[in-house]
Amino acid sequence: MGPFGKILIVSFLIAYIAVKWTTPRFDPESLKGARVLVTGASTGIGEQMAYHYARFGAKIVITARREKVLQQVVERCLGLGAQKALYIAADMANESDPDKVVDFALEKLGSLDYLVLNHIGPTPFSMWDGDVEHTRWLMKVNFLSYIQMAWKALPSLEQSKGSLVVVSSVLGKMSSPFVAPYTSTKFALNGFFGSLYHELAMKKSNVSVSICTLGLIDTESAMEKVRGVTNIQAYPATEAALNIITTGATKQQELYYPWFTHIMCLSKDWFPSITSYVIQNSYNYSP
Ligand SMILES: NC(=O)c1ccc[n+]([C@@H]2O[C@H](COP(=O)([O-])OP(=O)(O)OC[C@H]3O[C@@H](n4cnc5c(N)ncnc54)[C@H](OP(=O)(O)O)[C@@H]3O)[C@@H](O)[C@H]2O)c1
Ligand SMILES: *[C@@H]1O[C@H](CO)[C@@H](O)[C@H](O)[C@H]1NC(C)=O
Ligand SMILES: *[C@@H]1O[C@H](CO)[C@@H](O)[C@H](O)[C@H]1NC(C)=O
Repeated sequence: MGPFGKILIVSFLIAYIAVKWTTPRFDPESLKGARVLVTGASTGIGEQMAYHYARFGAKIVITARREKVLQQVVERCLGLGAQKALYIAADMANESDPDKVVDFALEKLGSLDYLVLNHIGPTPFSMWDGDVEHTRWLMKVNFLSYIQMAWKALPSLEQSKGSLVVVSSVLGKMSSPFVAPYTSTKFALNGFFGSLYHELAMKKSNVSVSICTLGLIDTESAMEKVRGVTNIQAYPATEAALNIITTGATKQQELYYPWFTHIMCLSKDWFPSITSYVIQNSYNYSP
């Protein structure tokens, strides 16, 4: 390796250590009594986030479509130590439901310290077949409802010096086969909330924006899709959930979980053809 390569590697190491060093430490006490709204909390990562917030003694409102399941999650949250736990059933494809959910949370909790946007609509794992109508619907659920809720909650977050947490994906930063509608909604989120992040910082807003980039997580809905199709390792939902929570609580701009998703995102720009080769060969597919 030439001197330039060595300098590059050493500077990266120093930058990495500096970032780790200056990252504020997570104080679990800071979540005691915190007023939190988590979307998509009937299953998967959202459900696990509800349980973590409950253990930290937060006051939480959860939402999703299935009332029965939400009820069970709320009961468990109360058992785990939540100061308050309430649910509201809502369909994020409906144009008025996103506002309705934020209003409900503000009314029941008085204000909000954390808005955690996490829900996604079900989408097929298959090659693009021209279903524009599904993509339009998914954009409403996965993207438009996010910006609607964020805007509605912003004045309250401003008062409480709160945090806006957006759950995104590696697929919001790099494309992959079989997920064209889904990846579009995640790219849209990254673009929108990246822009909002700058605007809030320039306005000296009290509100932090955290964008969470997740790799494959072992939730039921994800595992159902990739079983037998790929042997990419999946990471535990409960750990993903905890990482998202600490990222919001320490007001960090970004999370990469698992950590090597960060390397993947860098490598697609540095080594595009190798990255494409690896992606296309990580699935069992024959035409
Ligand atoms: N799992 C992974 O591998 C992975 C990887 C990268 C990023 N992520 C991200 O992590 C987040 C959570 O993923 P997950 O795997 O935990 O998802 P999940 O288990 O499929 O949960 C999705 C949640 O959204 C709710 N939901 C679905 N459609 C809805 C609608 N129309 N209106 C309101 N709520 C709706 C579901 O509840 P109801 O059915 O009751 O409505 C459920 O609570 C997502 O943002 C996802 O993009 C996941
Ligand atoms: C959205 O929900 C409201 C009230 O819950 C309902 O009146 C309206 O018809 C719904 N809109 C759509 C497009 O389903
Ligand atoms: C930040 O919060 C304080 C109250 O703690 C408020 O007076 C101020 O207006 C807020 N900043 C913005 C930009 O709204």
